[in-house]
Amino acid sequence: MKAVRVHAFDALPVIEDVPAPTLRPGRTLVRMEAATVGHIDRTVWRGSFLKHPPFPYTPGVEAAGVVVASHVHPEGQRVWLRGSGLGTLFDGTWCEVIDAPDEALGLLPDGVPFTIGSAFFSPSTSAWVALHDVARLAAGESVLITGATGAVGSLAVQLALDARAEVTAVVADASQVAWIPSGAKVLVLGDDPASSLDSVLVDLLVDTVGGPVLAAALPQVRADGRAVLVGYTAGNTLALDIAHFLQRDVSLLPLNMFRREPAGRAAAPELLARLADGRLKLDVQPFALEDAAKAMDWISQRGHRGRAVLVTGR
Ligand SMILES: NC(=O)c1ccc[n+]([C@@H]2O[C@H](COP(=O)([O-])OP(=O)(O)OC[C@H]3O[C@@H](n4cnc5c(N)ncnc54)[C@H](OP(=O)(O)O)[C@@H]3O)[C@@H](O)[C@H]2O)c1
Repeated sequence: MKAVRVHAFDALPVIEDVPAPTLRPGRTLVRMEAATVGHIDRTVWRGSFLKHPPFPYTPGVEAAGVVVASHVHPEGQRVWLRGSGLGTLFDGTWCEVIDAPDEALGLLPDGVPFTIGSAFFSPSTSAWVALHDVARLAAGESVLITGATGAVGSLAVQLALDARAEVTAVVADASQVAWIPSGAKVLVLGDDPASSLDSVLVDLLVDTVGGPVLAAALPQVRADGRAVLVGYTAGNTLALDIAHFLQRDVSLLPLNMFRREPAGRAAAPELLARLADGRLKLDVQPFALEDAAKAMDWISQRGHRGRAVLVTGR
């Protein structure tokens, strides 16, 4: 079977013929229909993650497909799968037949395409857990969401609107305004983030960008409000004037989806139902399995929209 293989950190992934996996206790074999290429796969590939599979390895922490052999899951079942060591401890999902731990699988409803089933988990559960489990968002509250064109940000905007919050979406430039749902206000960052945001005061900030964008957005949270910190694409440090910060009394709340994986799994059926009936939307960009390197490059570029997924093209 074909699999994408990585032979060293930062080395270009290549497609190779490898032996097809055989069924083992505790494992399920899944015919891959779509496999996500996400930021975490890049982090593992660069050697910056806590752990990585032994070289050479097949990357990929998420996918969707059809069960072909299992002791616990019915053959022919549509599934999504992620985590449990896939693509981080042992071979992952960028291959034609995935050898997955039984517990990595979840049911994929018929109404959800494989590409969405592959990509939905990380961005939609992160957005859901950030808003509901971490921030405890209430109807009528005002929310500022940075990186609103990103996968997590765009889902946070949609979910906050569904929760009847007043949403202000922050985008990087004017060409992205049309991507934001009509129920949300939009602010364009431009060259001076602080002055672009100074017209707004909110109960809650959900920051998916970090660095100077977080520094500019944090003062826009009202006293006794809260800020959920999700990502740090634009920078992983934040300088705080402690005296000023203490006077403002804003709670900084980290999102750690590794620790909150059970909450994400609990939310998954509801999120899939919303994706199936169109209440939630997630953009996906398909790439052929042999174009994994192109997909990794695409997700690292500013201005890309949605999630990259590898498809087998059968
Ligand atoms: N804490 C957790 O457990 C957790 C869970 C999931 C994801 N994350 C992290 O959350 C972050 C967002 O993930 P994602 O999947 O949504 O990523 P994504 O789809 O690549 O989106 C990134 C967003 O950030 C914006 N952005 C990037 N650099 C920027 C800058 N310098 N100034 C202004 N805007 C900038 C992008 O705007 P453009 O379109 O203009 O580039 C885009 O809107 C990532 O860092 C990811 O690792 C964390």
